[in-house]
Amino acid sequence: MDRKVKIAVLVSGGGTNLQALIDAERSGIIASGEIVCVISSKAGAYALERAKSAGIDAVTVARKDCATLADFEAGIVQALEEHGAEVIILAGFMSILSEDFTRRYSDRIINVHPALIPSFCGKGYYGLKVHEEALKKGVKVSGATVHLVNEVCDGGEILAQKAVQVKDGDTPETLQRRIMEQAEWKLLPEAAEKLCRRILGEKKPETPEVVLEKWERKDAETLAEIIGKIDRKYLSDRIPNPYTENDAVWFITETAQKGEAEKTGVFSKITVGGKTVGNISVEKSGGLNERCAVIGYFLLPEYYGKGIMTEAAKQICAEAFEKLGVIRIEGRTFEPNMASRRVLEKAGFELEGILKNAYIKNGKVYNACVYGLTKGE
Ligand code: GAR
Repeated sequence: MDRKVKIAVLVSGGGTNLQALIDAERSGIIASGEIVCVISSKAGAYALERAKSAGIDAVTVARKDCATLADFEAGIVQALEEHGAEVIILAGFMSILSEDFTRRYSDRIINVHPALIPSFCGKGYYGLKVHEEALKKGVKVSGATVHLVNEVCDGGEILAQKAVQVKDGDTPETLQRRIMEQAEWKLLPEAAEKLCRRILGEKKPETPEVVLEKWERKDAETLAEIIGKIDRKYLSDRIPNPYTENDAVWFITETAQKGEAEKTGVFSKITVGGKTVGNISVEKSGGLNERCAVIGYFLLPEYYGKGIMTEAAKQICAEAFEKLGVIRIEGRTFEPNMASRRVLEKAGFELEGILKNAYIKNGKVYNACVYGLTKGE
């Protein structure tokens, strides 16, 4: 069977848009994607029933039970990761998502808004309120908009719009219903299919040749420079900030070279076309198993998306199994992006389990997923 893009639908209420998506998948309007989970921000939302009736996993991450937006989003991310969701559809989802969240899934989230953006949109304009305001203003046409979601509420690129007549005597409820029937339930599935098709068709850029070399003392300046260019949120809290050349010398001599000599770890600089672009290492850790090691890495942002990490992970894991006597290598994704999971999976890691509690430290979401790669022994 052809691969389908995994879709998560986020809801808060009745879920008629969710129903339209489910029906569209059944009828083949959505052919390039499959709904793998429904996440509700409200316990008891009827949308959850619709998901269950359709045999789709339904999860509640109740906004009101979460102390902060970061807590709430950590719960959502966990559910998304568990289901391997690649596309997120907001279908009557009544919370505004943070910049961290929307960046993490950039160009992968779409929303349906029940008005013609830029009218009657933004913070405070949701559900019936949108139609009340449209009627108050006396507009003669309203409609619906499907758009990509970015950090600006209702501000992402518009993908589709459809106008709907306002009739004399309309109430917010009658107008809402007409806009749903004539616009939302049609536009949203069509936009979902388009996005999934685009993702399936995306051509992977060719991976440049990746060569791993051992860190040497003379690389200290380069290492400090690279770390200086990486967003701190992609780095462990243990890495000094600011990171000086002295810190780099310490890492190279005391961590990397010693680890290599004592066979407690393998540490390499990642080079592409002779240029050093990142670091990758596997260190003995104890972890879930005493013959266990943990993998860590970072890469200059301009080299993302080229498969470099996948290639580097394959090479370093082979080396680690050979030199360290370990039988397991684990990866933890602390990064607020999906890259590391993809890297590890492509390098042959299997999702071993997810530590249930994503947690927040210093305002950052730590989504403690554990992946394991076990050598057949
Ligand atoms: C829909 O009209 C949707 O466009 C709107 O809420 C309704 C949810 O209905 N969404 C927003 O206002 C988001 N800002 P549903 O739960 O039956 O799909």
